[in-house]
Amino acid sequence: MADKIAKLRIDDSEYDLPVMSPTQGPDVLDIRKLYGQADVFTFDPGFTSTASCESKITYIDGDKGELWYRGYPIEQLAAKSHYLEVCYLLLYGELPTQQQMEDFETRVTRHTMVHEQMHNFFRGFRRDAHPMATLVGVIGAMSAFYHDSTDVNDPWQREVAAIRLIAKVPTIAAMAYKYSIGQPFVYPRNDLDYASNFLHMCFSVPAEKYEVDPALARAMDRIFTLHADHEQNASTSTVRLAGSSGANPFACIAAGIACLWGPAHGGANQACLEMLREIGTVDRIPEYIAKAKDKSDPFKLMGFGHRVYKNFDPRAKVMKESADEVLDLLGIKDNPTLQVAKELEKIALEDPYFIEKKLYPNVDFYSGIILEAMGFPTSMFTPIFALSRTVGWIAQWKEMIGDPQNKIGRPRQLYVGNDKRDYKDVAAR
Ligand code: CMC
Repeated sequence: MADKIAKLRIDDSEYDLPVMSPTQGPDVLDIRKLYGQADVFTFDPGFTSTASCESKITYIDGDKGELWYRGYPIEQLAAKSHYLEVCYLLLYGELPTQQQMEDFETRVTRHTMVHEQMHNFFRGFRRDAHPMATLVGVIGAMSAFYHDSTDVNDPWQREVAAIRLIAKVPTIAAMAYKYSIGQPFVYPRNDLDYASNFLHMCFSVPAEKYEVDPALARAMDRIFTLHADHEQNASTSTVRLAGSSGANPFACIAAGIACLWGPAHGGANQACLEMLREIGTVDRIPEYIAKAKDKSDPFKLMGFGHRVYKNFDPRAKVMKESADEVLDLLGIKDNPTLQVAKELEKIALEDPYFIEKKLYPNVDFYSGIILEAMGFPTSMFTPIFALSRTVGWIAQWKEMIGDPQNKIGRPRQLYVGNDKRDYKDVAAR
């Protein structure tokens, strides 16, 4: 509701812009009627100053380095909650009672298997396909299998699609991994918790008994929790934009996965570990710091910087503690990648370039070190991010579809191309 009005003057005309006040964060100018009234658009490439929607799900205070899911700080959720409880919170807005949690867990675990026919899709991919490529294709293909949960106007179907996605994306991600290493697919086990089941599907083989280490499962669960949602980032906005046309939820999540893949977004965890390995030894760090500062070099320090966090990324803090715990647990002491990471962080945080530009380690800086220690290849890092973020995407998608203000997303442009001109025959060009 607007309780303030901003005035916009263009030549001799003045326009009133309602100022909307959020629960938290800066006020928002409502420009929805601006084009109709003043015949002007606003210009904001990269949406650095534009709120695309109203949302009750996640809040980030970039200056204070805070992240809340439904009002609960991420540090508390990472320490006290677990991923499926966080999924419930993101989807339904409140922490579940014991009964609600048991019911939700049952619903999710009953959907963990994929249609047997889907196995054939995997066999069509090359073995060396990146698991993200496989994931985009197979998640998109879910709409060809689960026809009874593609009607976006039916709240029950939306609910079933949400549960199916949360339940099946880990199975599909694990299958993508197994396929890439030439091992048989491992079926889910519903007696295991969500994170343990994922580790089981990735690392067990039919020929041997596999015991999931509970401490590693807890670390895995924490990685899922830390990535579960992050308000209107590029992939979430992609899911919302795709969904705004009425596209089915499986197609929308596939679009989100495609967007997440880029190295500026979810692909940064893979790119970061590859960068740390390329640096290799502590003495080479200054060379890479210099490259990152060189305007003529496109190189950026992967795992550093964030559009919103200008203090620190609270997820990175928890992730760093987790990395220490996991390496300790696995008895990994002289990990050269970790040494490079720690030293790089120290040097960068003391460097005027990084201080001035408020560039801090983000969530991807330490997650790769944990995942590598657990035995995942770098190509699985971004699929694990996608798996974790699926609940955020689907919660945001459900919020949008249920919002009466929802309209198809359709940005405008500042056209700077040629003026109208006549076609010329080839001989005259
Ligand atoms: N290394 C060196 N310089 C950097 C870096 C970096 N990692 N990040 C930003 N800068 C510089 C950038 O060159 C620019 O300098 P100038 O003002 O002189 O032109 C300034 O800092 C502002 O950066 P920006 O690119 O305008 O900021 P942005 O908000 O558009 O981009 C970002 C944010 C995350 C895409 C960017 O910081 C980046 O590419 N970081 C590396 C990739 C990465 O770690 N991404 C994961 C983000 S967290 C997880 C997720 O959301 O998926």
